[in-house]
Order: sequence, then structure tokens, then C-alpha cells
Amino acid sequence: MSSRSGDLHERAGRVLPGGNTRSTVFVPPHPPYAVSGRGCIVRDADGNEVYDCNNNYTSLLHGHAHPDIIRAASAALTSGTAFGLPTEAEIELAEILSERTGVPLWRFCNSGTEAVTMAIRAARAATGRDRIIRFHGSYHGTGNEVVDPTTAGVPRSVASDVLVLPQGDATALRNAIVEHRDDVAAILIDLMPNRAGLRPVTTEFASLVRHLATDHEIVLIVDEVITFRLGIGGLRSRYGIDADLTTVGKIIGGGFPVGAVGGTPEVLRSFNPTANGRVSWGGTFSANPVSMRAGQTALRLFAHDEMTRLNKLGDLFREELASAGLRVNGAGSLSRLILDDYQAGWWKLYEAGVLVGTNGLLALSTPMQEEDVATIANRVIGAMSSA
Ligand SMILES: Cc1ncc(COP(=O)(O)O)c(C=O)c1O
Repeated sequence: MSSRSGDLHERAGRVLPGGNTRSTVFVPPHPPYAVSGRGCIVRDADGNEVYDCNNNYTSLLHGHAHPDIIRAASAALTSGTAFGLPTEAEIELAEILSERTGVPLWRFCNSGTEAVTMAIRAARAATGRDRIIRFHGSYHGTGNEVVDPTTAGVPRSVASDVLVLPQGDATALRNAIVEHRDDVAAILIDLMPNRAGLRPVTTEFASLVRHLATDHEIVLIVDEVITFRLGIGGLRSRYGIDADLTTVGKIIGGGFPVGAVGGTPEVLRSFNPTANGRVSWGGTFSANPVSMRAGQTALRLFAHDEMTRLNKLGDLFREELASAGLRVNGAGSLSRLILDDYQAGWWKLYEAGVLVGTNGLLALSTPMQEEDVATIANRVIGAMSSA
């Protein structure tokens, strides 16, 4: 049956490989094309309106077209979208991040991938070592060091500098550090990795990672690109451990492209041009005032009470799904459905009026009220129970 989305996909196929420019949004035979969004509803090119629980892969904390964010971004747009000079806007967003996390220094970039890549560079520069330890199943973007080392296009040499260990395996971590102790620059961890099933790591494992990193002068990078929305200072603050470097992105841009690395002067000294920093790292659109201003507004709108409300809604949502027999993981406003067939599941949910991530990820947004979440839960339960 012909559809406007189908026509668009056919047209896309003439100019984009397979009609796609972003692997994570592809569902066969082709995804619906989005036309507009308002609050927690998205409208597609065929006129369907669905609850947006994808929220651009968790980044749209306040849904679509939040009036305060539009105002802040529009003011930035009319004053100049980017300059070959720094602006006060980057200072203000860094101040907000410092206040929320206790992490003193920040550097901005344009995506989570860039933030992780920059953190790895910083760790290597600070330690003079090459190896990175990370954990199986965690997604940290698309940089060479953080994708499956057998991925086509990744140089074979990268694998020798990356140790991928089972998440939560204390013995494997201890052994790896004993074996490579003088050559490990960083341990990179996501405390609740989405692609590995969105299950939080144990407090014991998080503490062990922290202690081993400290004992062996390894830089601990906590990747909070997804999890930052779960606590005022990110998920890490719930574990009570410090990171040497923190990577964030998504929600801190208020819906615009962003990434950032936070750390101490010690670990970020290689980027300090006033102290002969040895690492030069530009980024034509890094810290552009539109992302910075929208991000400040998004974070100001997400103070303690609102964050707690949204996290509670998420807890209730998972309880409802679990009591209907669905498998669901997560914490606070982030949930992950565990499905036997993600493609079929994605379409069933979309047809029931709920847009989720192609891996079953759902993120709530602040326009959602209790009634919305109850409707979403009913739709998910109905869709998943249908044959
Ligand atoms: C934990 C984590 N790190 C890094 C990234 C990469 O972020 P981006 O897609 O902005 O490059 C993601 C993206 O989903 C992520 O979930």
C-alpha cells in the first residue's frame, strides 16, 4: 500500500545509502517519516499521531516545542548561531553542569560520540598510556575504540588497545588490571547500559571500579550520555562514587546537538591552552550558543521536584508493565522492554500509538502526566499481548 512515508523512503534511496543516514532509526521495510512534534506527541507523514517515548533516543527531556526552550533558542538564533569566538552562553551551561554535578571543569562538543572520544584522548594524554578497558554490551557511540573491534572499517590495530570485559565481572576486571597495570589509561563505564539491557550495575561493582582505578592511577570515565537525566548530578551521584571524567550529551542540549566532558583540572590539563596544553581540539560548532542556551533552559526546567516526578512516573510505568507479565528493565524515567523480536515489537507498538527506540528503549518526557503514562502503559500492554 502506498504511503507518504513510503514515497519519501523511495526518494531517500536515491540520495542516501538504503535511504538511511542514521542506523539507529532504521526499521524495515522503512521507518515512518516524522513531520512535527508537540509536547509528547509526534505526527508522521501519513497523519498518524503517536506518543513519543523515543524522544530522540532520550534527549528530548521536555518533549517537542517546549515554549521556554523555543524562546531561549530563538533568542540565540536571532543573535547569531555560531561565532569564531567564545560566548557567555558556554560559561553559563558549564556553571550549571558544575553546580549539578560538583565536577569543576567542562568542555563542549557536538555529540555523545565526540564526548567519549574526547574523554579517551584526555585520559591517554593525562596518563601517557594507551589501553582502554570497557564493558561488553555497553554502547558509547561510534568511535573506533568503543565499537565492536571486528566492525568493518575499524583498523585491526585498535583491538590491541581495547580490553572488552564482561559487565559486572569483578574477577575479569581485577585480572585485566593486574596483567596490564602499567598500560591502562582509562576504564570506561556506563552505570546502566542501555544496549546491554538497561540494568544498573551493582554498587559493589561500581565501587570496585572506582577503587581499582584509583589504586592503579587509571582514569575512570563514567559515560552519562543517557543516564544524566536520572539524578541532578546524573546516575553517578546515586552510587556515591566520583568520576575522573564524565561524558554527557543528549538532554543538556535542550533538543539541539551537544556533548560535553567534565573533569578536574588535573585530568583536563592537556586541553588547557594557558598551561601549554598539548592537545588541540576544535569543533566548528562546539559550544554554539543555540545549543548552550536551549540546554541551560532544559536543565533549569529539570530541578529536583520535576526530576523526581518524572522518575516516579517511570517507576509506576514499569510496575504496570511487569504486573501484566512484560519483561522490562530500567530506572526512573528510562525503561527498556525486553522482547523476542524487536522489529516486530517496534511496529506493534507504533501501530498502537507508541514510538519507542528500535531496541525497545522508552524515555518519558516532562509534558507527560499520570494519565498519559497510564495510556501509554495500556497501549504497550495491549500491543504486546496481541498475537
Ligand atoms: C551511553 C552513550 N554514550 C554515547 C552515546 C553517543 O551519543 P551520540 O549519539 O550523541 O553520539 C550514546 C548514544 O546513545 C549513549 O547512549
